Amino acid sequence: MDKIKIFSPATVANISCGFDVLGLCLDTIGDEMIIRKTKEKDVRISKIVGQILPLDPDKNVAGVAVKSLLQNIEVDCGFDIEIHKNIKPGSGIGSSAASAAGAVFGVNKLLGEPFSLHELIAFAMEGEKLASSALHADNVAPALLGGFTLIRSYNPLEVIKINAPKELFVTVIHPQIEIKTSEARAVLPKNMSLQKNITQLGNLGGLISGLYTENYDLIGRSLHDEIAEPYRSALIPNFDTVKENVQKVGALGSGISGSGPSIFALSKGKETAEKVAKAMAKVYKNTNIDFDVHVSKVNSEGIKILE
Ligand code: HSE
Repeated sequence: MDKIKIFSPATVANISCGFDVLGLCLDTIGDEMIIRKTKEKDVRISKIVGQILPLDPDKNVAGVAVKSLLQNIEVDCGFDIEIHKNIKPGSGIGSSAASAAGAVFGVNKLLGEPFSLHELIAFAMEGEKLASSALHADNVAPALLGGFTLIRSYNPLEVIKINAPKELFVTVIHPQIEIKTSEARAVLPKNMSLQKNITQLGNLGGLISGLYTENYDLIGRSLHDEIAEPYRSALIPNFDTVKENVQKVGALGSGISGSGPSIFALSKGKETAEKVAKAMAKVYKNTNIDFDVHVSKVNSEGIKILE
């Protein structure tokens, strides 16, 4: 195999109570990437469609992630990467993660899968480091493994795939203002009170338990964030109104998707998730901010091979 075409999905990181450790994979939004083996032993990014991003592989998350993989294996070829970018950078649904995870996934397939999906996470994280100056895995892990993922430990890296209840749907609205992850991380305090820690830990345990037992009410009660939301919500116009309105139409809970500005909500069933989409859209229709809304099942597969 000399060429592979893949769908690399968007992801929601944090999921309120799991700052830097929880993420989920979306099904209906993602980038397409074509990766080819080349004779020249280098990494090239020949084309990016849809967004203006660097073609220099040392300045592009896909290039950096692939170079990190290639530092761990001897190969006698190079790789050419073409990216059709549907996920807008700075949207909070894992744009850089989709590029980094997709690139290492494609290269690994072309090499005959010398690395496991779990091993690819560490290489993709190097791309994330370039994008946000932080080695977080809560977007690249769900993109590569699919479903919900928990980073049990960063050092050593241990990622666990978590059960995703069948009827769980995700609604995401992307108000089109750009928030850089590095800036959204800079507004967070460096320390956290014992009381807030206790609340966050209880909710994280509650959410994981709710996902395994398919207890939708417990999932909803656990969707609270003591770490990031109190500081980051001020960066997102109308955030509180969106939260109030989605609750009224039956969402289990909602919060900031990754570092924002996207806002996610979880619902039981597609019908409720679509009502939530309308309620979210209504808020931004009354403003001069453009937006996109997506309704998606949890994608249990992760990256998909198209050709
Ligand atoms: N956990 C990261 C953060 C996700 O919230 O900064 C960024 O998408």
